[in-house]
Amino acid sequence: MHKRVGRYMTTIENPPQELKWLVSNLRAYWPRHLGAVATAILTSILSLADPLIFGWVIDRFIRSPSSTVPLVGAGLVMAAYETRLWLSAASAQWAADTYQRLVMDLRLRLLEHFDRLSLDYHEAVTLGAKSFILIDSVDDIALVGAEVIHLLTRSVITGIAISLTMIIVSPRLSLVLLSALPLYLFTTKYFKRQIRETTEAANSSLDRMSQYVHEHLATIPQIQILAQEKRELKKAEQLFADVRDYQRDRVRSETRYTVVNGTITALTSAIVIGYGSHLALRGEISLGSLVVCYSYLARLFEPIGGIASAHAKIQKSISSIRRLQNFLSIAPSVAPPAFPKPVRKPENVLLECRDICFSYNKDRVAVSNLSYTLQPGARISIVGKSGAGKSTAAKLIARLYDPHSGSVRINGEDAKCIQLGQFRSLVHYMPQHAVLFTGTVEDNLRYGNPGASSAELHRVIEMARLGPVIQRMPRGLHEMLGPSGCHVSGGERQRLALARAMLCRPRILILDEATAFLDAALEAEIFQALRTHFTETTLVVISHRLPALTWADRHLVLNQGQMIAFAPHHTLYNESSFYRELYSSATEERARFETAHASGTYPVIQRQVRE
Ligand SMILES: Nc1ncnc2c1ncn2[C@@H]1O[C@H](COP(=O)(O)OP(=O)(O)OP(=O)(O)O)[C@@H](O)[C@H]1O
Ligand SMILES: [Mg+2]
Repeated sequence: MHKRVGRYMTTIENPPQELKWLVSNLRAYWPRHLGAVATAILTSILSLADPLIFGWVIDRFIRSPSSTVPLVGAGLVMAAYETRLWLSAASAQWAADTYQRLVMDLRLRLLEHFDRLSLDYHEAVTLGAKSFILIDSVDDIALVGAEVIHLLTRSVITGIAISLTMIIVSPRLSLVLLSALPLYLFTTKYFKRQIRETTEAANSSLDRMSQYVHEHLATIPQIQILAQEKRELKKAEQLFADVRDYQRDRVRSETRYTVVNGTITALTSAIVIGYGSHLALRGEISLGSLVVCYSYLARLFEPIGGIASAHAKIQKSISSIRRLQNFLSIAPSVAPPAFPKPVRKPENVLLECRDICFSYNKDRVAVSNLSYTLQPGARISIVGKSGAGKSTAAKLIARLYDPHSGSVRINGEDAKCIQLGQFRSLVHYMPQHAVLFTGTVEDNLRYGNPGASSAELHRVIEMARLGPVIQRMPRGLHEMLGPSGCHVSGGERQRLALARAMLCRPRILILDEATAFLDAALEAEIFQALRTHFTETTLVVISHRLPALTWADRHLVLNQGQMIAFAPHHTLYNESSFYRELYSSATEERARFETAHASGTYPVIQRQVRE
């Protein structure tokens, strides 16, 4: 079992550093936090009062039987109980308040950091892993923080108070009882280690299951299209079985601990009853003292268990804190400049790429030595075979990545020195897969420019040929999009995103196969509208449909990350065999589909159902 557990264990090398982090994060809420701790201490002390009062009542009554003694005792017990109740309620309230504030502030801080991180991070890390940081890890810290403070306070105070009271009440009986302490300590240490290890393994298996479930739920349509339901179910079964087995191990180790330590407690109870009664009968201790010792007995070992489980919870919280610290220490690869410089004359943007090199990994260069200049209002296209580096080149212009060498310049200024917000308002990158937000059609269109006028809104709707689409919707511009609303086709989605991009009025608009789902006629109309109405905007279009791009002033031809030409269509067609080949294959493909369309003989793609 050890071997299996060991694989998932987190080693806590320097816990104080994480605890320091927690304390420093709690500093903002210290009045409530201190209030919670102080009331928890008082509650713990008051919880010891009942046996003492009961013992006092017995001894007092034996000495001078009077009906007022039990009445005073009952009153005192009631007062202590009621005070404890109120203090405990206040303590729980303050603790919950402190940690809910911490949770909210932490989540905001984490979300802000997620928003700051660059594309490379978001491409590399799964949605499940991200939501685990934002939801589960923060919950861990809050829960553990709120519980542990109480548990530790209660355990330490109760432990000290019970030991002292018992020594005062009966030194001989307490000596016998306290001698069982080392045995209890040893078994607790032994079993708690097992419980900690099995709990960590169970938590890891839960983490893996949760990540898988996130991904599975997000990709169900793809799984269905690829007919991989059975294989996915097998994968899920393995993960669910892991959770079942690790949870079973955890419960087993907890049960062992309860049985063994329960036996020790029963043994000491027997000693107290036997030896205590013997001492009472011989008059060496009072009956009241015997009752006090017996009542405390069940709680004598409580602090040891409490401290052990607080330790386990602290360990869990430390892993979560470490996860958060690691996440917060990730610097965005596209960093905002320390001393941003404004772009001069932003209404006319001249873009220069100087010797740009970039690679995603050490083994392969994605683009190298790209050098070109785009005058304000230029219309260019980036063409090349699949994997040539077109999207990479476009993302470098849009500062979604920063080049490893060379520079992107806007009006002579290095893009790295321009305030990121201003840069993004000047350069807009639109990918093939358009993203829509939950909200109305209008919310989606206005997302990048909420203050746009109604006239501007209707102009971009017209430019993106969205009029008929919106008219068809029962509530028009107020129709809800997204999971709980209207669903749109791939091409409509692209047009909505195009209109949104147009409404931002960028100075450089990059369309990376952003019209790939539109039919040729609609695509041509939209390009025409862009050329007519966006005369000052530089257009960079990436498409495999070369014949639809002949209107571009120049084509930047890429092959295996290298720029092999940057010239108008006619020059390239006459002088570059590579471009000619690229163009011909795109033309042939288009012709093939046009013939198929005319004759109605489309190739039939049959989904193969694999059993
Ligand atoms: N996120 C990434 N991580 C690692 N490698 C990547 C990543 N994105 C792209 N690449 C690699 O970089 C190279 C250039 O990719 P890029 O996406 O720029 O090609 P492309 O010309 O846009 O291709 P396509 O026409 O298929 O969209 C390819 O070899 C690709 O596999
Ligand atoms: Mg691409």
